[in-house]
Amino acid sequence: MKPAARHLLGIEDLDPREIVQFLDTAEVFFDVSRRRVRKVPTLRGKTVINLFYEASTRTRTSFELAGKRLSADVVNISASSSSASKGESLYDTLKTLEAMRPDVIVVRHPHSGAPHFIARHTQAGVVNAGDGTHEHPTQALLDAFTIRRAKGRIGELVVTIAGDIAHSRVARSNIHLLTRLGARVRVCAPRTLLPVGVEALGAEVFTDFDAALEGADVVMMLRIQHERLTEALIPSTREYSRTYGLTAKRLSAARPDAIVMHPGPMNRGVEIDPSVADGRQSVILDQVEAGVALRMAVLYLLAAEVGQSPLT
Ligand code: CP
Repeated sequence: MKPAARHLLGIEDLDPREIVQFLDTAEVFFDVSRRRVRKVPTLRGKTVINLFYEASTRTRTSFELAGKRLSADVVNISASSSSASKGESLYDTLKTLEAMRPDVIVVRHPHSGAPHFIARHTQAGVVNAGDGTHEHPTQALLDAFTIRRAKGRIGELVVTIAGDIAHSRVARSNIHLLTRLGARVRVCAPRTLLPVGVEALGAEVFTDFDAALEGADVVMMLRIQHERLTEALIPSTREYSRTYGLTAKRLSAARPDAIVMHPGPMNRGVEIDPSVADGRQSVILDQVEAGVALRMAVLYLLAAEVGQSPLT
């Protein structure tokens, strides 16, 4: 199998064939994490740097585990403990890391476009692990992987994405991916949390949550991105939760076999009731498990030698 691309900067850049290649490759790696010895030699001698300028639990840990389970050398850098905290620019940080000859740089940054800037100035492969409000491509890929495993397909499914659509890179990447694979995507939020022109991405827009849930196969809940709000866009958390929080009663409007997703971190009791988050329809921890396999697939497709097979 040949590497798919040198970088993974966004879903918007991918065609359906490339998306399916990531998903199919993740299937190959999925069982590695369930073995007694959770390691394959695929990326022995390769170096992966995780460069995180924003907080992360799931993405950073799963990229680290993905690299280690592929036998790569993995280095984690967070802005707060790096020389960025002394005023070093992104460019100088990058050139410093570049001199150590990494094969892949995984970057999370609060500014949209930062991974594209890095990709223009490095020989390494670059993976966008979330840039501002722009894209979070590996999250959308692991979400699609989880949906495909649960439902057996993605085409024609009705997927309701509800929450802070305006500030969510997860929503944007998922809309690109799911519409590209033929799903019928609904987005739902109060008007103040809907981005201008979201219909142009191919999603159907709702402000009535109960209507958006009607007959859904997949319900994906998103938290309010308080760290990105510059003004008050909801009257109060209590009011928001009353109107847009997913409860068991509300969920009954979706199909009986609907699955419930959340990229995390969750605000229990705000956008999702604990009984739903932990309920029988929740696949939230399946998403987390899928994250390791999917990120193994991404690192393999970017860093493996041409013609190298995934597990050797
Ligand atoms: N879903 C996600 O990006 O979670 P983290 O912020 O914990 O990485």
